[in-house]
Amino acid sequence: MATILRRPSRLAIIVSCICIFYVFATLLPRYHEVPKPRDYAYIPSSFDWSSLPQRHPVPESEIASLPRTKPLQLPRVQFAPKLDDNLMGKARIQILEKRRDKVKDALLKSWTSYKKYAWMSDELMPVSGKGKNVFGGWAATLVDTLDTLWIMDLKAEFNEAVAAVATIDWAKTDQTACNFFETTIRHLGGLLSAYDLSGEPVLLRKAVELGHMLYAAFDTPNRMPPFWLDFNKAKEGTLQPGSRDASAAITSSCLEFTRLAQLTGDNKYYDAIDRITRLLNSTQSQTKLPGMWPTFFDMANLRLTQDNDFTLGAQADSLYEMLPKMYALLGGLEPVYEKLYRDAMETVMRYLLFRPMVPDQADILFSGNVRVAHDSSIKLQPEVQHLGCFVGGMFGLGGKLFGIEEHIEIGEKVTRGCIWAYDSMPTGIMPDIFELLPCPTLEACEWNEKEWEAKGDKAFAKGFQSARDRRYLLRPEAIESVFLMYRVTGNPEYQDIAWRMFRSILSATETELAFSAISDVATQGATAKKDSMESFWLAETLKYFYLIFSPPDLISLDEYVLNTEAHPLKRP
Ligand SMILES: *[C@@H]1O[C@H](CO)[C@@H](O)[C@H](O)[C@H]1NC(C)=O
Repeated sequence: MATILRRPSRLAIIVSCICIFYVFATLLPRYHEVPKPRDYAYIPSSFDWSSLPQRHPVPESEIASLPRTKPLQLPRVQFAPKLDDNLMGKARIQILEKRRDKVKDALLKSWTSYKKYAWMSDELMPVSGKGKNVFGGWAATLVDTLDTLWIMDLKAEFNEAVAAVATIDWAKTDQTACNFFETTIRHLGGLLSAYDLSGEPVLLRKAVELGHMLYAAFDTPNRMPPFWLDFNKAKEGTLQPGSRDASAAITSSCLEFTRLAQLTGDNKYYDAIDRITRLLNSTQSQTKLPGMWPTFFDMANLRLTQDNDFTLGAQADSLYEMLPKMYALLGGLEPVYEKLYRDAMETVMRYLLFRPMVPDQADILFSGNVRVAHDSSIKLQPEVQHLGCFVGGMFGLGGKLFGIEEHIEIGEKVTRGCIWAYDSMPTGIMPDIFELLPCPTLEACEWNEKEWEAKGDKAFAKGFQSARDRRYLLRPEAIESVFLMYRVTGNPEYQDIAWRMFRSILSATETELAFSAISDVATQGATAKKDSMESFWLAETLKYFYLIFSPPDLISLDEYVLNTEAHPLKRP
């Protein structure tokens, strides 16, 4: 049958034009003004931070703006999906679905108890069944879990949670200050991500309210934020940046502030973090370990190069993590993030990464701490932190975005380091902080039984020197890297490793109500529970476990970047 090609009629052209205009007209406002809430009873906060004038304002002409040109076509982060189709038979799909359901069960158990015993508190205490406020009392677990509920297709729970979020009052807290970093990554990140996923306007409304409040942290004489956002000082205009603040806390609000600028069209948020980035750029080669920045900064005097300690672990971690993520979120249009990442990782590879001495000479790497002495000598401390387990995934992501094959290999080896440490413990979970015996170089080294006999702690597997902190706090960083390396390589072995980790974590941490941090991962048999369940258990740990067993197009890393609290933000 022949198809008759006709020229489109005049009417059809007019109708198409109207349609196109209509589509644009409905899409545009979303990016230029905050839409009015629709279905939820929105209650504005009792204090409007946007009404407070800045005492140290940036002149209009100096406000840096988001890159305006079309985002670049960046290299693919995720493995090509065809490969996956070929690998996966029907049986495999069923296995993965079963595992996914188990993760969802764990989330639902945690969520249901939070709802029943700790609703609107920051955290549920998973043994005593009480609520606890640790982050201002703005329902941290609730806000942090929104996007997880959406991703797991728990829409009724999601809607109930959004209705509660619509009533949060940021001015109502019994604290005099909030932790700028934690509030940004958990609350602001959680709201923006839930908005990006659901398009529910009330979430952006609450994010903007909070954004106004957090922006007040930048109203200091040198426009650098303090660690604590003291509400009264902010209102009086007397906030000052600190003289010894964790570098990560000061520098890693970039993603949330950039996304807020993108969604509202208000460049002031972007300007705020761009100033910090420029400071990182101008100091990168001036530090005692050029390429990296020390763990602590003196922001009051803009001295970022004084300190002697360097790590990818606690206090510094997300400074580095955000670099490739910012590059992606800005569509590759701000090259400084690539430069900062590349130069930092050169130094990390040279001085921080080490290979442990282990009996089977496993080809694994860890990231340690470095101290630069007064005589400029560089000393590696082979200490490993669970917090530092994100490093593998960061190398994988950076390797893909910037086309650096070596970084992907390093990412795999660092990820396998944390997996090895999990597998070395009786509970199947690695301690929060421990020391290993390092090889002299990144090449394999001969196992030295005598050295281990002399230095090692016999409570642990061969290779461990000691464990300063034996707890497991329900942290996500190990599964985060396993998830990222799965999405980068498509290697299904990572899914099986994830399943092993998941079962270990469940059996060591489960309580009657939910899941709890434990005191000692080296315990044989029943573990001691610490009655603590931080919100990242629901925001991050369970989300990563769920996603690794899901089809790779669910929260594709080519469409989203995840902030340091695992909240997906839409890439341009
Ligand atoms: C970063 O620093 C380099 C010099 O080290 C400079 O050429 C470049 O313009 C800086 N980029 C930004 C965005 O400030």
